[in-house]
Formats: sequence, C-alpha cells, structure tokens
Amino acid sequence: MIFAPVLGALILLGCNGQPKEKDSPQDDYKMEFNDVHTFAKPAEAAITHLDLDIKVDFEHKQITGTATYDLENKTGTNKIYFDTRDLNIKRVGTDKNFSGELTWKLGDEVEFLGRPLEVDITPETKVVAIEFATNPGAEALQWLNPVQTAGKVHPFLFTQSQAILARTWIPIQDGPGIRFTYNATVQVPKELLAVMSAENPREKNDTGIYTFKMDQPIPAYLMALSVGDLAFQSVGEHTGVYAEPSMLERSVYEFGEMEDMLVAAENLYGKYRWDQYDLIVLPPSFPFGGMENPRLTFATPTILAGDRSLTSLVAHELAHSWSGNLVTNATWDDFWLNEGFTVYFERRIMEAISGRSYSEMLALLGYQDLQETVADLGADNPDTDLKLALTGRNPDDGMTDIAYEKGYCLLRLMEETAGREKFDAFLKDYFNSNAFKVMTTEAFIKHVENTLFKDVPGMAEKIRINDWVYSPGIPDNVSVPVSDRFTKVDEALAAWQNGTAAKDLATTEWTTHEWLHFIRHLPAELTSAQLAQLDAAFGFTQSGNKEILAAWFMHTIRHQYKPADDALEAFLVSVGRRKFLKPLYKQLLDHGQKARALEIYTKARPNYHSVSTNTMDEMLEWKQG
Ligand code: BES
Ligand code: ZN
Repeated sequence: MIFAPVLGALILLGCNGQPKEKDSPQDDYKMEFNDVHTFAKPAEAAITHLDLDIKVDFEHKQITGTATYDLENKTGTNKIYFDTRDLNIKRVGTDKNFSGELTWKLGDEVEFLGRPLEVDITPETKVVAIEFATNPGAEALQWLNPVQTAGKVHPFLFTQSQAILARTWIPIQDGPGIRFTYNATVQVPKELLAVMSAENPREKNDTGIYTFKMDQPIPAYLMALSVGDLAFQSVGEHTGVYAEPSMLERSVYEFGEMEDMLVAAENLYGKYRWDQYDLIVLPPSFPFGGMENPRLTFATPTILAGDRSLTSLVAHELAHSWSGNLVTNATWDDFWLNEGFTVYFERRIMEAISGRSYSEMLALLGYQDLQETVADLGADNPDTDLKLALTGRNPDDGMTDIAYEKGYCLLRLMEETAGREKFDAFLKDYFNSNAFKVMTTEAFIKHVENTLFKDVPGMAEKIRINDWVYSPGIPDNVSVPVSDRFTKVDEALAAWQNGTAAKDLATTEWTTHEWLHFIRHLPAELTSAQLAQLDAAFGFTQSGNKEILAAWFMHTIRHQYKPADDALEAFLVSVGRRKFLKPLYKQLLDHGQKARALEIYTKARPNYHSVSTNTMDEMLEWKQG
C-alpha cells in the first residue's frame, strides 16, 4: 500500500458520500473533488458520528482517551483510513469498551500530513473505537502556564484544528469534505471549565467532568476544545461570552453588539442554524484573530480595544456560521469559498449595523492589504489565483489575504453587476440549498453560470470569472472601494506634510480605521522629530489598540525610533497573533535589525503557538539553543 497524497479521497458523490438528491441547483453536474490532504477514503468508508471520551492532563501536557466512531461503509470495503499526526495509537476495537479488537497499522509518515491509520473492518462493521494519547508537542494544542494567562493562577489549554491539525489531537478523518456529529465527555482539573465547538456548560461543577453535544454535522477542522479558569456571561438572547474572570467585564462590553450582528446576519442570508452563538476570549498567544468554531468563536484578546472598534472580527467569525461551517470548501484549494464569502458577508453585517461609510473603510483597508499581498507574492504568482494548488504543500502556506480580499473583490463585483437584490437572493439560496454540504470552486462557477449569468444579460462577460479564479493578480475590472472618510484623512496627511502641526489636524471624529489609514499612509521617510511630534499629539506608542500599535511600529522600526523600543518588545513578547508577528519581525529584518529581532524572539518564542513559530522560525532562520 502506498500512502501517497495523490491517492487521497476521490469523491464522485454528494458531500457526505450520499448520491445527491435532486434538490439543489447544482444537480446537472457532480460535486467532484480530490482532497490531497487527507488519507481518508470517505467514498469507501466514512465516519458519521464521533463519541469522544478524553482526559486533559496538564502535568504531562497530554490528552488521553478514546474516539469511538459510527461508520458508513459505502462500498463494502475491508479497510477504513483515519488521519493521525504525532499521535500515539494504543488500540483499536469494535466498541467503546474494546470488547473486540480490530487489526490496525500506521503507514509511513508523509510530510505535513502525518501517518494514515489503516483499520481492518468488514462490510458489517458499524463502529470503530480508537484509544489514543497526544504528544506534548501536538501542533493543534497550546498548553499555557499560569503566567501566560490573565489570571496567572491556573494553566490553560486551547486547540486550533484548521487546516489539518485536528489529526494531532484526535485520530480522525480530517478533510473538510467529511462531516460528522459528535458528543464528548471531557475530564479536566476541578478548578477549570472545559468548552467545545458544541452545546456548552456555563459554569464549573465539582467533578471536573463535562459533557458536550454537537448535533449538526461538522468537518474535523471545526473540532475545538478550550480548558481554563473561565466564566460565562450572556450578552443577548442567543449570544454570550466566555473569558477568564478578570477579562469578562471588558469582554462583555466589547462584544455588546453580538446579538445585533446575529440579527443582521439572519436578515441578510437566512436563519442561524446553530442555536447559540458564543465567543471565548483566549490568552494573547492565540495565533489567529479568530477561529469560527461552531457555536463558540475562539478570539484573540487583541481585539479588546475598549471602544468596540475591532469587532468586525466577530462579524467575520459569525458569518462563517453560513460561509464555511454550513457550506464548506471541499478542499483547501477551495479556501476562498470559505474566506472570500465570509469577508463579503462580514462587511454586509458591518454595513447593516454601522453604516456604509464604516464598511467601506473596512473594504478599503482590505483592498490595501490585497495590493500589498499581491506586491509581496508577485502579480504572476499562482498563489494569487483564487483557486489554490496546494498538493504536496502545507495548506497553511497558501492561506494568504488572496482568499479573503481577492475573494471579497470578486463577490463585490458580482453584487454590483447583478444588483444587490438579485445577488442577495442568490446568496441566500446558495447557503440554504447547500447547507451542511461541500462546495468546489468548479461547482460554484457552474452554479453561477446557470443562475446569475443567465439572469443578468452581459454579466458573464463583465465579470470574467475565470480571470479571477484561475489567473494571478488583480483583474482590471476590480471595483475599488471608495471612502469619503479616508479622503478626509488624505487631506489631513497632506496638510501635515505642508506644515500644519499634528495637534492642529482635524482628527476628533476619527475611529480606529481612519487612524489606520493615516498611519499606513505616513510618508516612508520620517525624521525622529516628526515621529516624536506625531507621538506627542496622538499617543501612538501608548495606544491600547493593538492594530494601531502594530501599524505604528512599522514606522518606528524603520526609523529606529527609540522611544517605542520598549513598547515594541512588550508587544512582541505578549502577543502571539501571527498576522502581527510576521510584518513586524520582517520589518526588523528588512531594516538591518536581525540581532534585535532574534533577541526579542528568544524571549517571546515560548509564548507563541506552533502555528506562529512554524512561520517565524523559518523567517528568522531560528536555531534552537
Ligand atoms: N478561519 C480563519 C482562521 C484560519 C484560517 C485558521 C486558516 C487556520 C487556517 C478565521 O476565520 C479568520 O479568517 N481569522 C482572521 C480574522 C478575520 C477578521 C480576517 C484572523 O485570524 O486574522
Ligand atoms: Zn475567516
């Protein structure tokens, strides 16, 4: 048996391997895809339900337990395949109690993918139970010492499964095209609370044993667990926040608009299908801004700005409850179907709650990010195609702003071409008729050709969808966002460059977004006196807003502006969010400060999640010891 990635799951059936029913607009073609990042062969034998029974051991930094799966054997095969990586498999049995044993073996290690677990079954086998233990270095897991938490007393654990890390903490069929329901029993130290991407407890009990239920089928990358000294507070009828006790009040204020966002989202694209929507504020080492774990978004504390100005991230993760969690990218090559749609939806939610002038600022900042990413990667780099080519690669490598912002631009162009009314009806139907299913880029294009393009004369020619999806760079029919509010910022910038003192600029009405535009567009060449003048007038170095700080540090690093040195170091040592780390360390490298970068990195690295250290080790040519 050769476990080469090219032998991944070739699927010629509906998303869960069922022959498709004639109920969706995609019926005139097959949802065909080959997920090269899983060893599972779900077209032959697929999991349908997981019963997870685990214990979380902080002392040994280990999760141990059993994953018991219900199976569907579609072809009468004698083998079922699971994904594992860096995972210890103890035994495999016919049920939770291992009353019968099954023969199994682990295949050879494949870079990025780990090792396939091959289990011998019969066409009659309905259940497979796998006893396992994680390794302390499991990539999905970050084990935090008390000092790395807000409370400083208790340890903390969180998982990050997207894209293909679920297999480092559960033996599982780890492809976005494979869905299953789950229930779980999790045992944790008595002082701590456990929460998952499921129906969650709201307070601690004195057994330390918590049970969970997720009745809607989800793919493995949405499996999530967090354990810590956590408290819950409701913010609306269907919404609430989990955080460490000392962070709860601030968090509840910051996320006070969650219920409004949920209502706005439902008004746009149909009912929220997951009942409750909560958010957990994680410690600052969380490597992402947010992660759309169903029913429970995982979020970085770096969006706690005190003024609700960074909460579009919540709109983003909430939007994934439709785009991604309900209609899921079939493979990681189709990642833009998750993220591009979500950015579009996020901005529609923000427009609904904060107005068009606000959402256009977000869109223009996003467009600036897109231009920068295209410039960085090169306008002819295939990684700037919407459809990615990740075979043989770590999917994480291809996950850039392209999927998000070029994807957004395509949907924006479609909206403008079809008209909002038609486009909204189209999207609402898309989410409804594909709910709990997968989508491929090709199926999406066919669907658009069969619906909107037929309906709206000239739309296909105007959009040139293949240029967007299969060609690099930004097509020339892009619709660039327009922001009057940023025009005012540009005027202030010009006035400052023409001699108006910083403190005399008309900035009183500005929000975080205007400030970001201002800082991003400061001239590249600045004197220390100019930096000091700006800092004295606007207090950038002391800002409590992490986005503003990160943008400002790009200038202070470039010009070696000493008064910001301590703040930069404090930032890099406490914050593990990769989106901030990458540009800041790169700026240090690009401006002759590699020694300083390494000095800070040495201090900071123990606080970073492996998702971040993987990226940063490479960039900084880090060598242990
Ligand atoms: N699903 C992503 C995070 C992700 C992507 C994790 C790929 C692993 C692999 C999440 O929804 C996301 O996009 N987060 C963004 C914030 C958002 C507002 C753009 C982030 O973390 O910065
Ligand atoms: Zn996202």
